[in-house]
This record gives sequence, C-alpha cells and structure tokens, in this order.
Amino acid sequence: DTTSGFQNEPLIDFSLEESRTQMQEALETVADQLGKEYPLLINGRAIDTKTTITSRNPSHHDEAVGTVSSASADDAIDAIDAARRAFPSWSKTEPQYRSEYLELIAANMRRRRFELAAWIVYECGKPWEEADGDVAEAIDFCMYYANQMRRLAEPLNCNVPGEENAYFYRPRGTVAVIAPWNFPLAILTGMTAAALVTGNTVVMKPAEQSSVVAAKLMDLIHESGIPDGVVNFLPGIGEEVGPELVGSPDVELITFTGSRDVGLAINESASETDLRQNMVKRVIAEMGGKNAIIIDDDADLDEAVLGVMHSAFNYAGQKCSACSRVIVLESIHDTFVERLVEATKSLKIGPAEEPGTIVGPVIDEDAKQRILEYIETGKEEATLALACEATELNEEGYYVGPHIFTDVDSTCQIAQEEIFGPVLAVMKADDMDEAISIANDTPYALTAGIYSRSPANLNRARRDLVAGNIYLNRNITGAMVERHPFGGFKMSGIGSKTGGPDYLLQFLIPVNVTENT
Ligand code: SER
Repeated sequence: DTTSGFQNEPLIDFSLEESRTQMQEALETVADQLGKEYPLLINGRAIDTKTTITSRNPSHHDEAVGTVSSASADDAIDAIDAARRAFPSWSKTEPQYRSEYLELIAANMRRRRFELAAWIVYECGKPWEEADGDVAEAIDFCMYYANQMRRLAEPLNCNVPGEENAYFYRPRGTVAVIAPWNFPLAILTGMTAAALVTGNTVVMKPAEQSSVVAAKLMDLIHESGIPDGVVNFLPGIGEEVGPELVGSPDVELITFTGSRDVGLAINESASETDLRQNMVKRVIAEMGGKNAIIIDDDADLDEAVLGVMHSAFNYAGQKCSACSRVIVLESIHDTFVERLVEATKSLKIGPAEEPGTIVGPVIDEDAKQRILEYIETGKEEATLALACEATELNEEGYYVGPHIFTDVDSTCQIAQEEIFGPVLAVMKADDMDEAISIANDTPYALTAGIYSRSPANLNRARRDLVAGNIYLNRNITGAMVERHPFGGFKMSGIGSKTGGPDYLLQFLIPVNVTENT
C-alpha cells in the first residue's frame, strides 16, 4: 500500500497484437532516422564540434545509429559555466513549477513511448520488453521525484513560545551527471530529474555508447521549456571531459552510475580540493555488483530456474543488478543445474529488434572481448556446463551467448569480479550457513536473492544477506521506483537509493532559520 499517490507506469504488454504492431511501426519509423547528427547543447545553443562519436547498433555493427558531437575540455568548461550562470534564477524557481516541468517531460515520454523504446533497441541492443521498461522507469523517476519535491518543499516548523523555527532545503549548485549506457534513458533521466527538481543546474554527460538516446532526452528537456543553461548536454569521451567535470571548482555535486573503477576514481579526484573551490564536493556513485541467488533444498525449482535464468541472462547480463552467482544447497545441486542448463538453452539469442529476443548482443567489441576473456579464465578455474554459441550472428554484431560454470570456488575470479555479461558461476553449499557466507563473500553489496519455502531460512536471508536490495522467491533485477528503492553499499556505491525517499536529500542543503519573536 503506498500513500504518496505515485503510481508506477504500466509496462507494455507485448503479448497483445496491437502493442507488437505499434512497436514494429516505431522501429520502422526510427530506422528511417538512423545516421543523423546530434550537437552539444550549451546554454540553449547547439554546438557542432570537430570531433564526433559514431554510435553503432550492437546488433548490426555496420549500422550507425547517429553521429554525436564530442565535447572537448573547453566545451566542458563552457557547459559548467552555463549551468553556474543559470543557477541563481533556477534555484529560486518555485519547487512546484520545477515539479511541473518533470511532469511535462514524463507526459511527452509517454506520448513517444514506443519511439523512445525503439531508439534504445537500436542503440543499446536492448530487447523490446527491457527497452520498454527503460522508458517506463524514466517516466517513473520524473513523476516520483516531482512528487517527492512537493513534500520536501514544505518547511518543518518547530515553534516554542518566543521562538519560531523553520527547517527547509536549498539546492546545492551545479551538478555533473555522468551516466551509463545500460539504462540509457532511465538512469540518465533519474539522475538529471533529481538534480533539476531540487533546483540545481546540470551538465549531462551520457555514456559514449548511448549518446543518441541521451540526445533524445535532451530534446524532451528542451521542449518542456526548461530555461536555457539549466541542463547542458555534453556528450564526449569520458577521459576527455570527465576530469574537467569532476575537477572543476564550480561543480558542487557529481552523480555517477557505472563501473567500480571509474566510481572510485571520481570519488578520489573529487576529494582533492582546488584552491578556487568554496565547498566540499559531494559524490553519489552507483557502482557494480556480483549478485548471488541462493537455492534452498526445498525451493520451488520451476520458479527458481526461471528466476535465476532471467536475472542472469536477460539483456545479456548487462545490469548491475544481474545475477552472476548462484549458490545451491548440495542435495538439490545436480537437479537444479540440469534444469537450469536445459531452460537456458531455450533462450532466444538474436538481434534486439526481433520480437522474442531475450539475449541480445553485448554493447561493443571491448565488452565482448572482456567477457570472452572471463569465459577463458572460467574454463581454467571451473567446469563449463553450458556454452550457448551465437556463431551465425557474429559477423553481424557483438554476440556472446549464455555461459554457465559449475564447480566454482568462491575465490575464483569468475566468482569475485563483475563480468557484466551472460556468465553465471554456480557454487555448491553444504548448508544455509555456508550458502549465506558464500553469498556475502565479495566486495560488493548490491542485490541478492533466495528461493526457499522455509520461513526460517527466508528470515535468515532477510537478516544476514549483505546487499542493498534483497529479493525473496523472485528474480533480482527490475527494481521499480518507490516499491523497490534501488542501490547498494560496500563497493557497490555511496549514496542513498534511487527511486526512494532519501534520494533527493542528497541534492539539497538543509537550513534552519530561527526567529526570536
Ligand atoms: N535498477 C535496475 C534493476 O533493478 C538496475 O540498474 O535491474
């Protein structure tokens, strides 16, 4: 039961012919628009740069999705400057109006729902349902944060005779949003919407691989009428613009989602104080995971097999929430593995635009090579129980089929390092104590799950699993705004959960005013 009035955007039901037709039409319309050029947008002004990034369709790498201007360090300085100059007026805009802008952006996303999903299919190789989920989550972030801001805009009063107190929030300043490609619309929208609605101004730096979807978001923001300079679009190469964004004395907050290595590097360099800077920078970083599901010996195996399979292999395992380890109680181990292997063989691997594809391509050649290297390491460390090949597709795109390893020791590389691909390590445990201790035995703490019929073991999982999002008897991906505030701790990140009640507070400064009356 929720009390806020917020409701999650319903997902499209692709079992309905009408929805499938709408999606096909959107894919065709968007196919005609591939290959266009997208400029930077700084202070409302479109800027074409000399260097560009060509974004490719991972399902068919010869196909260019679009060519996006690539910002230089000087462009980054200009974007930060534009955001800084827009701050005084935007920060004083009534929170109510700022919320309405987000609601307008959400309404326009709803209107362009299939089209936006189609861009995600082409640019990021996301199968239909997942691409649709990405758009729905972006809408949810706008609606939820708009709602939250209205609540936070009410000062808290604590008056006593002779004294009136008001506790309220002010925006912080300029926010650098540094986003990943795997939720190209949802995560970029979530971070940007949070910064905006709280009265901050933004420099938006999307991942290189998803710059066209980001350009679509920039269009939506621009069309909503948000004043120039409040959001500046700075696509570019991370190594070139990142240091400027993170090191600038004029950026108050960096909100990042991506790999652990980049997150830690941002945290480190943001902590170096520039002499020109007059505040301590804040970093919000959502980083990786090495997420485990435990299979108890009394688990409903029909459910467990499907839950593990979808958590591990949908979108080719390219979610920070994905399951990459499964820990099975000894007595059920062989049966579970046999069924998991059989079920996984049935997953459709293919181009993301084809209906029914579950495992699309991985994002690019680098990702493919990294995953293939982990598979080679896995062959040395453990037993390869399933290797789904995608041989006939390999000329076309960056495909890696699902791989399952058994006899994996918890100290193995494939049991400890985030692979970000369709590779699952299966481990055996003698009892629930051992299963939980293996589950907790990584540097990460993002998602975790258990399939069990035992109330005692479910309670142990609730209490003892070390993860930010713990799921009992269901898959461990697909967190929904408000219902499942999302985010981890340990090496999975710093900051509070997206789509949750504390998220916006990180973008605000609490102030208390006391008047002697
Ligand atoms: N929020 C996503 C999920 O829960 C991951 O980023 O799958």
